[in-house]
Amino acid sequence: MVDMDKIVSLSKRRGFIFQSSEIYGGLGSAWDYGPLGVELKNNVKRLWWRDNVYLRDDMVGLDAAITMHPKVWEASGHLASFSDPFTGCAECGRHYRADQIHDALWSSRWVRSLRERLTKGNNAVREIEKWLNGDGKKLAPNLPAVKRPEEIKSLDAASDLRVVDAFDQLGGSPNPYEVEAIIKPFLLGQSHLCCPNCGGVHLSPPKPASLMLETFLGPVKETATKTYLRPETAQGIFVNFDNVLQASRKKLPFGIAQIGKAFRNEITPGNFTFRTREFEQMEIEFFVLPGTDEEWHQKWIDERFAWYLRYGIRKENIRLREHEKDELAHYAKRTADIEYLFPMGWSELEGVANRADFDLKQHSQYSGKALEYFDEESKQKIIPYVIEPSAGADRSTLAFLVDAYHEEEVRGEKRVVLKFHPELAPIKIAVLPLLKKNDRIVETAKEITADLRRRWYAVYDDTASIGRLYRRQDEVGTPFCVTVDVQTVGDEKAPADDKVTIRDRNTMEQVRVSLSTLEPTIEKLMNGKWAEVAQEHGIKRA
Ligand code: GAP
Repeated sequence: MVDMDKIVSLSKRRGFIFQSSEIYGGLGSAWDYGPLGVELKNNVKRLWWRDNVYLRDDMVGLDAAITMHPKVWEASGHLASFSDPFTGCAECGRHYRADQIHDALWSSRWVRSLRERLTKGNNAVREIEKWLNGDGKKLAPNLPAVKRPEEIKSLDAASDLRVVDAFDQLGGSPNPYEVEAIIKPFLLGQSHLCCPNCGGVHLSPPKPASLMLETFLGPVKETATKTYLRPETAQGIFVNFDNVLQASRKKLPFGIAQIGKAFRNEITPGNFTFRTREFEQMEIEFFVLPGTDEEWHQKWIDERFAWYLRYGIRKENIRLREHEKDELAHYAKRTADIEYLFPMGWSELEGVANRADFDLKQHSQYSGKALEYFDEESKQKIIPYVIEPSAGADRSTLAFLVDAYHEEEVRGEKRVVLKFHPELAPIKIAVLPLLKKNDRIVETAKEITADLRRRWYAVYDDTASIGRLYRRQDEVGTPFCVTVDVQTVGDEKAPADDKVTIRDRNTMEQVRVSLSTLEPTIEKLMNGKWAEVAQEHGIKRA
């Protein structure tokens, strides 16, 4: 699995994702999508919308406002219970989610540097001692052992072996309890946890912190309406249930889909775009007859799981995880998470919940407007049950990016290639002139680009040698390069053959096709038919 640092650095270098407000020192919890990132994320959202709205008879779309009536959040239960427990370090002032502090500790700079040190030699106590007097001082100045490094000498040989064994056993998979077990006796000498930032042991007892981001509507704060930036897009759908029902004349079962920004005052945003305070959700509220909810829930779990596989997520990197009874949200009858193996470990990509009739009932009660459905068969008014597949656009984009990342060795050199599904790739085709000093080649390449652009996002590039241009396109995941050469346009020795070379990103194989069939050939290639095209035209020898 690729390191997150590599993804962050590639994202910046090639224009996928930048840190927000970077010229002012950056804002840790916010990220901006650059020229290629916006294409990738738009493709994720477009495919989600196409597959869930356009290709189904039972779905319609919505785009509700981000700010809503404050009562919405009373009814939904967010004001009362949408919070996470937090703990703060008295020494450096950092705050953490109390239930995630083990993970934060494990991935902290100081624990990682200590682990590296322990793999360098087999005398653990001596290595720890060196670390305490070196990197430990810089990275974890408040760690008790850093403050009193001499105490480490009192550890005996048996402890020494236990430290090495324990760190060895951990391998790449962080287990918070093992981390705690190792760090406590050797470095803390007491029963506390310590701060992932400074090593301090004075952490406050956990307290709940609301995740709702307040905002004020009106020019004078004192008289303005206090409301909230929505923490989920779902409530915009519930409060519009009757509007959509009346306008669309849909019959149960049917769903309403929405893509939009959501905001949460996360205590510890982090892991790149995985957890941020501002993010985009892709949510469906699928309304069904009570009694059919369990069957529909399972159908949606299967459908959403298959969606990620369809667009290239490797099956070994995705799994389902059923929520335990005690972790279910206040509204949920059952929830299954689709998890992805991100660089920091298995984490939620999408939740598929059975929300029963909780939301429609709550909004009926708080607004005084009945949110019901007249069932023709039973001739009764009922409150539908709701199945909610709720995905994050940013998290999906990150998962597709991580999963696409490959490093390969080609003729003794490292090739970095993003093997995106063609539908997801930011740039679909790069048109490259073999000789940029040959006007006819350049002119033809530009004409081809202009033609292809009417259907696909195609770029023209002549800023380097052909080998480097191919590598650049590999690194941003462009599935196909079209090269125009002397044979295409002809010269004094031979007439034009009106053919171009198409190179496949994954196999690096090339075929030569006629300009008149370029568009239908690319159409086939976009549909994954490289083998068929290669058989038809024959693989070109390099
Ligand atoms: N309406 C249900 C709901 O909001 P959730 O599990 O809290 O459920 C759904 O969020 C999805 O939204 C998550 O699976 C994740 O993909 C995305 N998401 C939630 N919080 C996020 C955050 N702080 N940063 C990025 N994405 C987030």
